[in-house]
Amino acid sequence: MIELTAAQVAAATGGRLSADPEVRVGGPVVVDSRRVAPGSLFVALPGEHVDGHDYAAGAVEAGATLVLAARELDVPCVVVDDVQAALGELARHVLATLRERGDVRVVGVTGSVGKTTTKDLLGQLLRPEGPTVVPRGSFNNEIGLPLTVLEADESTRFLVLEMGASGVGHLTYLTRIAPPDFSVVLVVGSAHLGEFGGIEAVARAKSEIVTGLAPGGVAVLNADDLRVAAMADVAPGEVVTFGTIPAADVRAEDLGIDRTGRASFTLRVRPGASGDATRGEGTSARVTLGLVGEHHVTNALAAATAALRLGVALPDVVARLSDARALSPHRMQVTERPDGITVIDDSYNANPDSMRAALKALAVMAGRDRRSVAVLGEMLELGEDSRVAHDDIGRLVVRLNVKLLVVVGEGAGGIHDGATQEGSWGDETRFVPDVEAASALLRDELQEGDVVLVKASNGSGLWRLGDELAAAGAGAAGGERA
Ligand SMILES: Nc1ncnc2c1ncn2[C@@H]1O[C@H](COP(=O)(O)OP(=O)(O)O)[C@@H](O)[C@H]1O
Ligand SMILES: [Mg+2]
Repeated sequence: MIELTAAQVAAATGGRLSADPEVRVGGPVVVDSRRVAPGSLFVALPGEHVDGHDYAAGAVEAGATLVLAARELDVPCVVVDDVQAALGELARHVLATLRERGDVRVVGVTGSVGKTTTKDLLGQLLRPEGPTVVPRGSFNNEIGLPLTVLEADESTRFLVLEMGASGVGHLTYLTRIAPPDFSVVLVVGSAHLGEFGGIEAVARAKSEIVTGLAPGGVAVLNADDLRVAAMADVAPGEVVTFGTIPAADVRAEDLGIDRTGRASFTLRVRPGASGDATRGEGTSARVTLGLVGEHHVTNALAAATAALRLGVALPDVVARLSDARALSPHRMQVTERPDGITVIDDSYNANPDSMRAALKALAVMAGRDRRSVAVLGEMLELGEDSRVAHDDIGRLVVRLNVKLLVVVGEGAGGIHDGATQEGSWGDETRFVPDVEAASALLRDELQEGDVVLVKASNGSGLWRLGDELAAAGAGAAGGERA
């Protein structure tokens, strides 16, 4: 973050100064006192379970020089009415200052699925070009986004932001803090449908990243998703599209997928679609992704489109896409166990779209000669569509000829029902109440050569099973037990 005085923090947030105005903050801005470093600004957020104000003294002891707080404290602080809003204001101010001083380009990424993957890909495409800030983990909300913005400083050339929304107005809030120069929209899907109240409402909410572009900003839209493509109508300026249809400016052709689950395609760039790099001629190159799963083609195209427009040369885009691996754990994380079992841990998150994508990858990786095993838990936050969505997944499992289905937890029961009704299965589909029971069952059932997918919403806790299954392989090799 850039260095600010306490007086500047107070001015930017409209807060009341209760500190020496010349006190400087320059260290990381943090909401978690355990992350304080010398010079930090500690933001005392009121939480559901803990109140940040209780940790302010400890934060200052650990080196924080200033606290942003909702009430007067016994430490140097700036007092504001609404700490979260003030955090946003501070980030907005800092980014506006950086735009005046430096040469920072902001890329915002949204969509119902693939945001984290795409921002991580963008980080891997842009970092070799210059100092790049990418959100940690999945930081994408009213707190994570400003914290990410505040990591930028005068040297930052690329600021990549993941922008999440679970309702109308959320992206407007985020784009007011950080209006993007490039707004990337991936897909409008069925994630969080329950909270939104219908897919058209999701589309409207996601389009706010386009209407919230900075002046002269470019909308980067998925031509394959009609609801995303339609956002061109509300784009304030230039639109660049990506996808597999011929009309896309940046296009994947001749798609294939190999036995390791990695997709390859010819990346064809229409003249002009990549800024200076291909002006006039257009160009193409063969790409093989490092990420597992055909669904990552969309994310790769999105990242490539923005990177090309930001001046990354096509050969570099191609090389970096094939080097890119999943940066965050539990996302299509493939472990080859020494006992010949392959574990695909995709337990970070799940909705119907990503379930389908992961199951297809499982089917491809198992092919004809290996057994496919799907261990699936509940997809959360689907609202009233939940039962049908789980049922559909169960039916898809049967159609993909998955050899063993383990359904974990009451909430996922619809998967079991759908699978049972779709085919005449004997003990090929099993229902177990919890992770422990799943673990016991798999210890008995798994055989050499199996390909096992573990997937559910994060809140279902199946990531524990993912860790355990992956470590069981390592344990066997190292002679220890996990
Ligand atoms: N385009 C896509 N279509 C279907 N599933 C996807 C797509 N992109 C990512 N996924 C899967 O969705 C899950 C969440 O991906 P992630 O990149 O973390 O998305 P987000 O940040 O939007 O929640 C992972 O299981 C991932 O493999
Ligand atoms: Mg995310």
